[in-house]
Amino acid sequence: MAKPISLEKILFSQGFGTRRYCSDLVYADLVKVNGELAQDPEERLSTEGLILNVEGRDWEFHEKAYIAFNKPPDYECSHKATHHPSVYGLLPRPFVERGLQCVGRLDYDTTGLLLISDDGQFIHKMTSPKKNIGKVYEIATPEPITQKQIDHLLNGVVLDDDPKPCFATACRQLDERKLAMTIVEGRYHQVKRMMAAVGNHVAKLHRTEIGQYSMPGDLAQGEWRWLYPDDLLRLAKSVDA
Ligand code: URA
Repeated sequence: MAKPISLEKILFSQGFGTRRYCSDLVYADLVKVNGELAQDPEERLSTEGLILNVEGRDWEFHEKAYIAFNKPPDYECSHKATHHPSVYGLLPRPFVERGLQCVGRLDYDTTGLLLISDDGQFIHKMTSPKKNIGKVYEIATPEPITQKQIDHLLNGVVLDDDPKPCFATACRQLDERKLAMTIVEGRYHQVKRMMAAVGNHVAKLHRTEIGQYSMPGDLAQGEWRWLYPDDLLRLAKSVDA
């Protein structure tokens, strides 16, 4: 069982501000612990199953944060976004304070499944090309998709910045102009460039799966949810040892 920690330290670890600020939140009667108004920022608490309520909002304690986010279009996956607003602006402030990072980026106009975490090892593992994690993209194209194009994607496409071909590891045609394609690497604009290399284009791009984790059907665009141990186990199983 985890060692009890002071409430002030717990609040700080979850991204609610400096220790001083966290302490003041308690003194201002803005913090509840498992439903009870907290009185003492120095009170030591077990973090197991701990539910905080800060300024009226419930907040589960998570030692490390792992979340799934349904990215809307027209947002950049960067803390220093330049041309469009940042996805981090759509997340609760404590996530930004505690340094959550996107696990690989999606282009500003790509929608769908994005994992976000403050666990550096997890981010590294999930983004390493050596780990062979399949990512499934649904691609809508302006031109009909031909079998020849699909064969080309599966047999490997050479992009202009690297003589080593990149492959689709699976392709499933969903309709005349829609394809679900799996890739394991994460090169710059990879899907768009692969589609252009086979003579088609991407009109819309949406990520639906990362490894064995699929976008939850009820997660609306712009919403996030915690990943729990069974989700993380599914992701861990997707990784080559
Ligand atoms: N490939 C792309 O071209 N864009 C993305 O956002 C993701 C993969």
